[in-house]
Amino acid sequence: MLLAIETSCDDTAAAVLDGRKVLSNCIANQNLIHKAYGGIVPELASRAHQSKIVPVISQALVEANIDKKQLTAIAYTQGPGLLGSLLVGGSFAKSMALALDLPLIPVNHMHAHLLVHFIEGNLTPEFPFLGITLSGGHTQLILVKSYFNFELIGTTLDDAIGEAFDKCGKIMGLSYPAGQEIDNLAKKGNKQRFTFPIARPKGYNVSYSGIKTAFMNFIKIEQTKNPKFIEKNLNDLCASLQNTLIQTIINKIKIVSNDFELKRIVIGGGVTANSEICSELKKQKIKNGWELFIPPVEYTTDNAAMIGIGGYFKLNEKKYGNLSDESKSRLQI
Ligand code: KG4
Ligand code: ZN
Repeated sequence: MLLAIETSCDDTAAAVLDGRKVLSNCIANQNLIHKAYGGIVPELASRAHQSKIVPVISQALVEANIDKKQLTAIAYTQGPGLLGSLLVGGSFAKSMALALDLPLIPVNHMHAHLLVHFIEGNLTPEFPFLGITLSGGHTQLILVKSYFNFELIGTTLDDAIGEAFDKCGKIMGLSYPAGQEIDNLAKKGNKQRFTFPIARPKGYNVSYSGIKTAFMNFIKIEQTKNPKFIEKNLNDLCASLQNTLIQTIINKIKIVSNDFELKRIVIGGGVTANSEICSELKKQKIKNGWELFIPPVEYTTDNAAMIGIGGYFKLNEKKYGNLSDESKSRLQI
C-alpha cells in the first residue's frame, strides 16, 4: 500500500497504489490561480501546494478506503520541477515517512511519465523502447532499457513542446494552459492554411523557441493588415501551429527510431493528451511498422499515480535510501 505525492509544478496530487493497481488518484488543479498571469507564478504555486496537500492526501486515503496506518511506503516527486513546489511535496513526504516509520522513495517525474504504461490495466511495452516525453517543461527522447535504465538521447535545446503550445496560445489570447484549447479549436481548422518553419537542429535534439518567434512575428504583420486577423482565423491558426509543433517531434522520432533500430515507441506527458499527435503517430505506426503505446488520457497530464508506479518498482528492488537515524534524532522524532 504505497502513498504517492506529486507537486512538481502546479498540480497538487496524491494517489494510493496496491502493487501496480491504482486505488485512488486525486488532483487539486491550480489553473484558476495562475490564469490571471498567463503562466505559472512559482511562489503562488508553492503556497497553493501548502494549502492543498493535506486535503488531497486525505482524499486519496478516503477514496482508497484505507487508514494511513496501513501504508507500507511513501513515494514523492524528487524532480525535475519548480524548486518551491518540489520542496512542499518532498518535505511533506519526508515528515510523513518519519512519523510513520516508512520507506521513503524519491521518483523522477519524467521517468514516471513513461512508467504509467506499467499501471495495472494499461497496455504494457517490453524493454527496450524509445520513450518520448512531451510536457510543459520537457521534450525528451529516451532509450529505456529497464524500469531504472533511462538514457537521454535527445532533448529540447530551448523551449518544451507544451511551452510552445501555451505561449503561442497566449499570443492568440487563449488562457493558460492553452494546449487543450488549441487541440479543440484545431479540429475545426485547416492545418495546411498557414506554414511555419520546422526547426531541424543536427543530431537528436529539437528546438521550439524559433516557432514561437516566427508565429508572433507572423501574427503582428497580419494584424497590421487586419486587426481582426486572429479572431477571423483562429481555428486555422491553431490547426497550422499544432501541425508544425507535432511534425517537429515526429521528424526526430523517425530519425531516432531508424538510427537505434527501435520500433517500440512509448509516449508520455501532458501533450500526449493531444488528439492530433495521437492520430499522426498512429499513421506513422502503420507506415513504419512501429509498436505504439499511448497512455490513457487520465495518466497523460501530471498525476500522482505515475509517481506511485515509479515508486513501486524502486520499492521492489529496494532502490531507495532510508532517512538516517541522525536526521531522525535531529528532528527529535
Ligand atoms: O506533463 P504535464 O501535465 O506537466 C509538466 O510536466 O509540464 O504537461 C502540461 C502541458 C501543458 O503545456 C499543456 O498545455 C499541455 O501539457 N497539454 C496539451 C494538451 N493537454 C495538455 N497540449 C496539447 N494538447 C492537449 N490536448
Ligand atoms: Zn509532467
